[in-house]
Amino acid sequence: MRVEERRIRKKGKGQIGRSPPSKLQRRAIMVALHGQVWSYRCTDFNEGCSLRRPGPAYLDFMASTPVDPSVIDAMADAMSNDWGNPHSDHAHGLQASKIVERSREALATLLGAGEDEILFTSGATEANNLAIKGVMSSAERRGNHLVVSSIEHKCVLEAARSLVKTGIEVTEVKPGADCRVRAEAIAQALRPDTALVSVMHANNETGVIQPVREIAEICHRQGVLFHTDAAQTVGKIDVDFTYIGADLLSFSGHKFYGPKGIGGLAVSRAERLRLVPQLDGGGQQPLGRSGTVPVPLCAGLAAAARLYERHGQSARTHIQSLQRLFEDRITRKGCPFTINPHAERIPGCTSLRAEGVNAEDILLHARGELSASTGSACNSGSIEPSYVLLAQGLSFDEASSSVRIGIGRTTSEADIDRAVTALLAAYEKAYRAAA
Ligand SMILES: Cc1ncc(COP(=O)(O)O)c(C=O)c1O
Repeated sequence: MRVEERRIRKKGKGQIGRSPPSKLQRRAIMVALHGQVWSYRCTDFNEGCSLRRPGPAYLDFMASTPVDPSVIDAMADAMSNDWGNPHSDHAHGLQASKIVERSREALATLLGAGEDEILFTSGATEANNLAIKGVMSSAERRGNHLVVSSIEHKCVLEAARSLVKTGIEVTEVKPGADCRVRAEAIAQALRPDTALVSVMHANNETGVIQPVREIAEICHRQGVLFHTDAAQTVGKIDVDFTYIGADLLSFSGHKFYGPKGIGGLAVSRAERLRLVPQLDGGGQQPLGRSGTVPVPLCAGLAAAARLYERHGQSARTHIQSLQRLFEDRITRKGCPFTINPHAERIPGCTSLRAEGVNAEDILLHARGELSASTGSACNSGSIEPSYVLLAQGLSFDEASSSVRIGIGRTTSEADIDRAVTALLAAYEKAYRAAA
């Protein structure tokens, strides 16, 4: 009997044999995942990755994070073994659906939500669109008024603005000078016909944590639904859906060492929300989404969620100490950089500026040594300065000279050294070129 055959026979009745992916399969999957093969070798985040890979230091963890080896393992396993359609009512389908259900369980545990409250989407962009359009286009909504903060990610702002042509009125509330949206400002924006408020849990450019619990309370007192985009907090700090009191909460796998192409929406069962689906189809997820649920991505997402339970606290400590180191060094006497004003932030996110020099030029000169960005990834490449920094009151020049640094659990002290040296050298070059 061949080894493979024996392995299959050893399994219980009705169970489909699991074969571990071959070395070649794993490699192909790893490459297909992100082309981030290097991250697979990084098993201890304190050792840091970039020391062992060629190329610039990666300090853009708010844009995306390397896929953790345990995530790749879980995905490779599911891709090799659990390839049935999870919505099919037969042995292969049931086996695949178990992976989906386990993933739902892991996400529910991570978010302090019920399993029946988790809906999988392709990421936070889709989750945010579904939350906003799904509530605001429902015939059961309370009214025609929507409130968002003016520092939301583009996918929230554009989803909201797209509704204006359908008769929805949108109010955008500005943050204070510290990039924090005041709960009182939200309270003042509410009207008798406000149906929904959407304020992000933490901003993706400055990292500033927003008072979402307070805002949720204000909304509920007035019978208004509350959505929060938690793409930058889930898997980085403790996020408790029930404690926050949100009705809807979005998250994204690739922001916390999971795969790209999956995220989701927690939908509170208390409100018995019936979101208007944004995709027509078979209604595979009764909470409001059609389409076959991607089993390997679910397996990867669950592994990323478990990672936070195991390493969340130690990762935070590691990231915060590197962030202090970076900020101390880059703002040392004689250095041209200052940290932009901020309230309490998520660990690892620093927005800083060097006046008189365009941030795009600094990053261009530093490119061989450092991968960082001038704002959200979707906006980098555009010459407009950050609308977030402008909204918190920075001048056009200040916003144009601002760089975002994102430190993560695989960052090492050597990455910080390289980044500081690269930024200072790049500033000199950019300054001389501009003079
Ligand atoms: C706050 C915030 N919301 C939404 C998104 C979009 O997430 P995804 O890439 O999963 O669509 C991002 C990604 O940059 C983000 O930072």
